[in-house]
Amino acid sequence: MKFKTILFDAYGTLFDVHTVIETCDKLYPERGESISHLWRLKQIEYAMQYQLMGRYVDFYTLTNQSLKYAAEANDIDLTEHEEKMLMSAYMKLNVYDEVKEVLAYLKEKGYRLAIFTNGPKHMIDPLVSYHNMNHLFEDVISVDEIKQYKPTMASYHYAKNKMNAKREEVLFLSSNTWDIAGAKNYGFATAWVNRKGNVAEHKELQPNVIIKSLNQLIK
Ligand code: LAC
Repeated sequence: MKFKTILFDAYGTLFDVHTVIETCDKLYPERGESISHLWRLKQIEYAMQYQLMGRYVDFYTLTNQSLKYAAEANDIDLTEHEEKMLMSAYMKLNVYDEVKEVLAYLKEKGYRLAIFTNGPKHMIDPLVSYHNMNHLFEDVISVDEIKQYKPTMASYHYAKNKMNAKREEVLFLSSNTWDIAGAKNYGFATAWVNRKGNVAEHKELQPNVIIKSLNQLIK
């Protein structure tokens, strides 16, 4: 790899956002999957909508707003207790199986690793600590520091500068096609982590490589 710096998206890429299905299913049997999918969909939609409005609402707050939307759309009258349970579940998402081992290997090889996420620090830091992953990253960069969501050019530019890296030395990884397109649009080399065999989007902003799991980075 000619890259020196590797930036990782967090939610959906390192951490499985659909871990919450288990808690949803406990509370609302058999509806966990549909609630979780709508929750995630609206969360991303809200970030983009607020960005377009020029109105910054942090990702934790809009994760809460999108949970409420997903509940209401499923005819669920969310109690305060249930809301707390589900938001806490979001703070303890599973890390994908291979992540820690691959990151440790890359770090050992001398790559500079960082998370670059839409989540604010008070949301992402506890998750990274929960999984004892702090030592793997040189930095955990949040768009909250500039209040410009991915996929704006300004957000990727900020991450590049924060790492004091050259654009062409950065490899950006995400499971989200909109994030890959944004990073590519900015000028990063990209690897799309397509764990679930999703359909490619943005044909003119294709990733440099498509992988099924991070294991392929070291093979
Ligand atoms: C992230 C989400 C949006 O930036 O995947 O971590």
